[in-house]
This record gives sequence, C-alpha cells and structure tokens, in this order.
Amino acid sequence: MTPGAPILSRCRVLVAGGFGQLGRWLARRPVGDLVEVCNVGRKHSEIYGPGMDLSDRGSIEHALEVFRPQVVINAAAFTAVDAAEDDEAAAAAINVDGSARLAAECARRDIPLVHVSTDYVPGLYAPVEDPAGAPSLAASVPEAIDFASEAGVYARTKWEGELAVRRAHPGATVVRTAWVYSGPARSRLEGLGGGDFVTTMLRLESERDSVNVVDDQWGNPTFACDLAEGLLQLANRLASGDRALSGAVLNAAGGGRATWHDLAAEAFALAGADRARVLPVGTDEFPRPAARPSFSVLGDSEWRRAGLMPLPHWRDGLRRAFTMAR
Ligand SMILES: NC(=O)c1ccc[n+]([C@@H]2O[C@H](COP(=O)([O-])OP(=O)(O)OC[C@H]3O[C@@H](n4cnc5c(N)ncnc54)[C@H](OP(=O)(O)O)[C@@H]3O)[C@@H](O)[C@H]2O)c1
Repeated sequence: MTPGAPILSRCRVLVAGGFGQLGRWLARRPVGDLVEVCNVGRKHSEIYGPGMDLSDRGSIEHALEVFRPQVVINAAAFTAVDAAEDDEAAAAAINVDGSARLAAECARRDIPLVHVSTDYVPGLYAPVEDPAGAPSLAASVPEAIDFASEAGVYARTKWEGELAVRRAHPGATVVRTAWVYSGPARSRLEGLGGGDFVTTMLRLESERDSVNVVDDQWGNPTFACDLAEGLLQLANRLASGDRALSGAVLNAAGGGRATWHDLAAEAFALAGADRARVLPVGTDEFPRPAARPSFSVLGDSEWRRAGLMPLPHWRDGLRRAFTMAR
C-alpha cells in the first residue's frame, strides 16, 4: 500500500457486465461493509435506467458520471466460446473494442480499472506452484499445445482485449481467471449462474445413466463467489490508493488443479450420485468448434506476492457452492 494513502472504509465499485454470472456475484458478495457495488447491465434496467453498453461511448460516460466510482471492474465479455467461432466481429466488438473503450474512459478520469480475462489467452500458461513440493504438473501433461496458432476466436479476442486495455489504460490491472461456475448455488440465489459447467453436469446426472467428460484438459475450477470476493479485495486495495497493483497482470482462480472429469465427478459425489457414472474421455472424442488448451493451470504467486488472499482450493469452492444451495 502506498505510504500515507487513506484507508477508505467503503469504496464504490462499478461493474460493467453487471448482470452476467460474475457481475451478479460481485453485487452479492460485498466484502463486509468495505465495498459498495453498483452493477450495471448492458440494457435498460429498473435499477439504473439507461444501462451501460460497451459499444456505446455515451452510455459509458453517462454511467461514470452518475456513479462516480472509485474503481471499475470490467466483467462484460462475449463469453460463448464456441459461438464466437461463427461471429468473430461480435466477439471482438466487446472483448477488444468495447473493453478498450471502457478502459480509455476510465483512464481519462484516472479511475483504476480491473479487467477480467481468461486462462484461454494463448501461450501464457504459468504452471501452478505446488506448495507441497509435488512434481510440477507441467512435467506430466502432454506438452502445452502451440495455442497461439491454434487459439479460437474467444481466446484470441480476449488476448487482444488485454493488449488494447493496457494500451488505453496502462494502469489497468488485468486479472485472469478460469473455469468459472455458480453450480447449485444458483437455485438458491435466484438469478445467479445459468448454463455453467457444474449446473450442466447436475442436469445431465438427472437425465442420463452416465456422462462422458474430457479428462485430458487441466485447469482451475473457480466458484464465481470466490472470484468475486477476490476481485473486491483487489478493488478495495486499488481504491485505497495502492498503485503498486496498477498495471499488474494477476491470476485469480480456484486453488489446485483438475480436469473437467475431476470437476464433474466431484459434483456428482456432492450431489449424492455415484462418481463412477462420469466416464473419462479424451478431447478427441469430444470435438468442439473452438480449440481448448490442454493445460491452462494458473499459478497465483503474483496474487499472493501482492498480499491478496488466495482463492480457496477448487474442492472447497465446489463444496460451498453446494452448501449455499441448501
Ligand atoms: N465463465 C468462465 O468460465 C470464464 C473463464 C475465464 C474467464 N472468464 C471471464 O470472466 C468474465 C466474466 O464472465 P462471466 O462468466 O460472468 O460471463 P457472462 O455470464 O457471459 O457475462 C458477461 C456479461 O457481459 C455482458 N455484455 C456483453 N456484451 C456487452 C456490452 N456490449 N456491453 C456491456 N455488457 C455486455 C453480458 O450482457 P448480456 O447478458 O446483456 O448479454 C453479460 O451479462 C469475462 O471477462 C470472461 O471472459 C470467464
């Protein structure tokens, strides 16, 4: 923290993409009394009439004027990974141009910006650091594919978005996250979640005898609630004048590592179903329009070094997603 910086008891955070999965959790999980979250959706809403569409500079300017935030979190994105393959222009319009537009307006007003990005950005996979000293997973997985050349439209536009945001607002803090889900917590907390992976697996559990799930892609399952808390912790630090985090690129994702099969099997078990009904398959048996990285586990050493609380282990996050649903 910058010496002498005022410690604010409450900071005002404006969330773009405020009614997406992460945006809703940000609004739900204020860190005690420390953060006031104003989440604004793209379209007109009862809460805030005009909405904030990142393709419309005027609507961004208006929202910044009305809310006068101390920090902005950009949780808006074109996130339909496979659909992006058929509509690159739409994906780029929000992931690159819209994000840069928001960044420029924040920079003009000297407002710290947290830009949320993804483990799918090409060529940037930092192996997880295992405090227990177990051999690095990087040594035991198939060599990381040359994702830069194979990346899908979503990954590419998110990567270009990071670059465009940093050009428009060199002080912006980029936070990469991964495999975000709300799971069964959504049924309890109405409006949260939707078609996330865990929710989909639970639906399939009720519909099928067995489910095939890929077991050769590694990443960090992240409970959206945990991510929201981490981002608000970061926002609070930025609002209190901690410019050491300005311009940083940080990873914030569930601890440990898992395959999609691990995540699905754990979700089955927590739902009281037999985890053996989740059958491991290879990526080649489950072709999708967009390529996925085989290994995109994010290390959180920079996050820890910054003095931020690490996100819980993915198994803890998943357990809480179930507990919150009760
Ligand atoms: N979900 C994951 O597994 C995952 C993994 C890694 C990184 N991330 C990143 O995490 C962030 C949040 O993801 P999420 O899961 O919360 O995604 P999400 O549920 O799809 O939410 C994205 C939100 O962005 C909004 N949006 C789209 N175009 C917009 C525009 N022109 N102006 C303003 N808002 C716009 C959408 O609004 P509408 O509802 O009106 O379309 C939606 O509410 C994204 O940056 C994503 O890339 C997600």
